[in-house]
Amino acid sequence: MVQNFDDTTVDSDSSIRPSWEGIGPKGKSILVTGGGGFIGSHVVDSLVEHNEVRVLDNFTSGFRSNVHPDATVIEGDMRNEAVLEEAMAGADIVFHEAALVSVTKSIEAPKQSHEMNVSATVDVLDHARREDARVVLASSAAIYGAPQSLPISEDHPKNPMSPYGLDKLMADRYARFYHEQYGLETVTLRYFNAYGPRQVANAYSGVVSIFIDQAQNGEPITVEGDGSQARDFIHVSDIVQANLRAATADVSGEAFNVGTGNSITIQKLANVIHSIVDSKSEVYYREVRSDDISQSRADISKIESMLGYGPTVDLQTGLETLSPENKSVK
Ligand code: UD1
Repeated sequence: MVQNFDDTTVDSDSSIRPSWEGIGPKGKSILVTGGGGFIGSHVVDSLVEHNEVRVLDNFTSGFRSNVHPDATVIEGDMRNEAVLEEAMAGADIVFHEAALVSVTKSIEAPKQSHEMNVSATVDVLDHARREDARVVLASSAAIYGAPQSLPISEDHPKNPMSPYGLDKLMADRYARFYHEQYGLETVTLRYFNAYGPRQVANAYSGVVSIFIDQAQNGEPITVEGDGSQARDFIHVSDIVQANLRAATADVSGEAFNVGTGNSITIQKLANVIHSIVDSKSEVYYREVRSDDISQSRADISKIESMLGYGPTVDLQTGLETLSPENKSVK
């Protein structure tokens, strides 16, 4: 897919057709952990029409208002055995999206990251074993650390650079272990840089939501370093697509990258957002983040060939639909 980021004209009619339409499980009992969060709530939206969907969330970082009204909400902490048992009872499929997602937070609180990203995942896998439920697990590109070669394939060396990356690597490996040791059906999805509606803009969130928020408020757009670092930004609609395919494919014990196979520099991202939002903001360069990864781009050939996945939302369109003039994708 070739993208022309010099042409940043806003098309106010642009909208995104959900890339998950027509695929995914039907007639199942499904649990989405973290179903009030950014990614989990979109997974719920894609499932409620054809399935009985439960959401387990403690709403510390997610929001009740994100949860589709047709889903049943269990409010509680997934680390609480009784709560998890209630949520998992009778489930056919679990989408495990709940996590302590921020790299920064994990550095501030490694123990909490370990509890939420590793221990809770082992609990989910263990309950899934009892229920014989299929588990689709949210992992992360953070497990690879600074890449030695691009694009990053699933067998690239893993050198995580934060407790978050370490914990996600462990969760990722536990899913494989549960498949190999106990025959549990698991699929692990390694998200690259996710963006889209409902991504909250704060000090712990992704750069797209931060830049859009800054541009809309006329505040400086804060590029860290010289902006030459690049990322593979994946729209949440395509992350949902990957989840639905992972839930239904005749594949188990495997891990897949979920990205686009393209990358854009942070400098260019700032310019595109500035132009789309038609902002009065200026781009402001500040200190480079310590331990920042300079380049990241997914090799998506495995997920394309084994799950039939393909990214459908190009970055320009995805960003346009996030600007205030266009609320067509919710
Ligand atoms: C992100 C995710 C992480 C995930 C990983 C997968 C977030 C917060 N982090 O980390 O959970 O595991 O991708 O690869 O979503 N930047 C600026 N200005 C800002 C904010 C950020 O220039 O105001 C730059 C950063 O220095 C970095 C890039 O933007 O170079 C991306 O930062 P960020 O969105 O935090 O994501 P990652 O660090 O890639």
